[in-house]
Amino acid sequence: MRTVGIIGAGIMGSGIAQTVASKGMDVVLTDIGLEVAEKGKSGIANGLSKLVAREKMSRTDADALLARITPAADYSAMSGCDLIIEAATEREDIKAKIFEAAGKVLGANAIMASNTSSIPITRMAANSPDPARFCGLHFFNPVPVMGLVEVIPGLATSQETIQRMKAFGETLGKTVVLAGDEPGFVVNRILCPMLNEAIFVLGAGIGSVEDIDAGCRIGLNHPMGPLTLADFVGLDTLYEIMKVFHSTTGDPKYRPAPLLQKYVEAGWYGRKTGRGFYDYSGEKPVPTR
Ligand code: 3HC
Repeated sequence: MRTVGIIGAGIMGSGIAQTVASKGMDVVLTDIGLEVAEKGKSGIANGLSKLVAREKMSRTDADALLARITPAADYSAMSGCDLIIEAATEREDIKAKIFEAAGKVLGANAIMASNTSSIPITRMAANSPDPARFCGLHFFNPVPVMGLVEVIPGLATSQETIQRMKAFGETLGKTVVLAGDEPGFVVNRILCPMLNEAIFVLGAGIGSVEDIDAGCRIGLNHPMGPLTLADFVGLDTLYEIMKVFHSTTGDPKYRPAPLLQKYVEAGWYGRKTGRGFYDYSGEKPVPTR
């Protein structure tokens, strides 16, 4: 891969852009408009400046990495890309429109991939120009730090596409696992019900925000407690994922916790909005319940 198009300049899209550019590939980054794509690039620049300040990266390397990322107003700039990765909002209607529009510029041998957390790949492939060249490619947040990528073939994904996606993941320095096209694939199928359950536990008054997080952090040796992690993933994203699990399987064990729904309705999406189960406006996060 020489040039990679990334659709969505939020937490995941920006993280993927940074990671791809750090390996010497060029990136075309889009979002709903040029301004949002540019904001995504500024976020990457801020993160890199912190790494430079902490002497984890040289200024020269940071500048070279940034120079490889080009924000673009629309998909026409992606016609020369070998791979287009969609990392937009976790809503199937939005993604379907993206695959249709970006599909119009997809090169003859290029691959289209989705960073979806939970939506079936086979179903989304139907909106792309060639389902044989469509694949799930699921990254973990923060992308530059997390060492895993899941490759999820749909029913029609070709062996060649699978092999190219595995090789791409390895080029990024990630361990690649192959996952089946079932809700949540491997990792989110296990993680998201746990985060959702932590919110049920909070809603039922079984533990406070701090005690639930401390319990799992210390008792299970997890790097973050589940409510901190839910805020980190984004409560809107977690809510959408649980709704997909619930509607796809019909199994009530996957119903979103009522308190999760309430937080989303309040616009409290976690870290990205400054408030979720913690308030992030001060120097240190403070529990909101
Ligand atoms: N670019 C490059 N490096 C970065 C970086 C960035 N944007 N941000 C952080 N780093 C580096 C730091 O420099 C540091 O490097 P060092 O170890 O060499 O010093 C290292 O990453 C760790 O960073 P920090 O010291 O700032 O922070 P912590 O040690 O507290 O670790 C964490 C932060 C890695 C986020 C850790 O808390 C963690 O692993 N949390 C769990 C994350 C997780 O579970 N993610 C998966 C979420 S699920 C998902 O994404 C799927 C989706 O579909 C829902």
